[in-house]
Amino acid sequence: MNLAVFISGTGTNLKALIEAQKDKFFTSQIKAIVSNKEAKGLEFARLNHIAYLVSKDDDEILEFLKDYKIDLIVLAGYLPRISKKLINTYKIINIHPSLLPKYGGKGFYGRHVHEAVFENKEKTSGVTIHYVNENLDDGAIILQKKVDISGCKSVDDLADAILKIEHLSLKEVIKKLEVEN
Ligand code: GRF
Repeated sequence: MNLAVFISGTGTNLKALIEAQKDKFFTSQIKAIVSNKEAKGLEFARLNHIAYLVSKDDDEILEFLKDYKIDLIVLAGYLPRISKKLINTYKIINIHPSLLPKYGGKGFYGRHVHEAVFENKEKTSGVTIHYVNENLDDGAIILQKKVDISGCKSVDDLADAILKIEHLSLKEVIKKLEVEN
């Protein structure tokens, strides 16, 4: 599959996908990267000579993607809501750092998820990778991985523990979907 990866932040999930591609963990190719801002993660696009666009404009994003015959968009820490137009044009998946539907929906993104999990003294959290529909964090779940966080002493510990599993889970889902594609 030809992949487009959308980011807004550090891009460690993007980095993990680039490394998985180099290691031939899957046959898919990351053809394009989109961000709504000059995100730190765009450094991985530049280092690996992957085309990227910084834009908040839907039409511009669609125009940019057109040339790459994208089979799947991967949201990896992408914060803006995805438009109906994009949802109707592409198959889209998202990675969320909790066991949805717990700690999902409005306001639950990135560190906010881990803060709420930690405050509630959860013993387990995890990662969810799901299809994207018009509702937030609501599409069909493709993969969920539970993580024992009983040993996490801080929100940072928790975020690190989950992120490690995210990196492993996302490449597994790409491998699974390319077989089905
Ligand atoms: C990850 O925790 C992901 O689950 C969430 O945003 C974070 C992105 O991290 N959606 P990175 O930009 O891939 O490092």
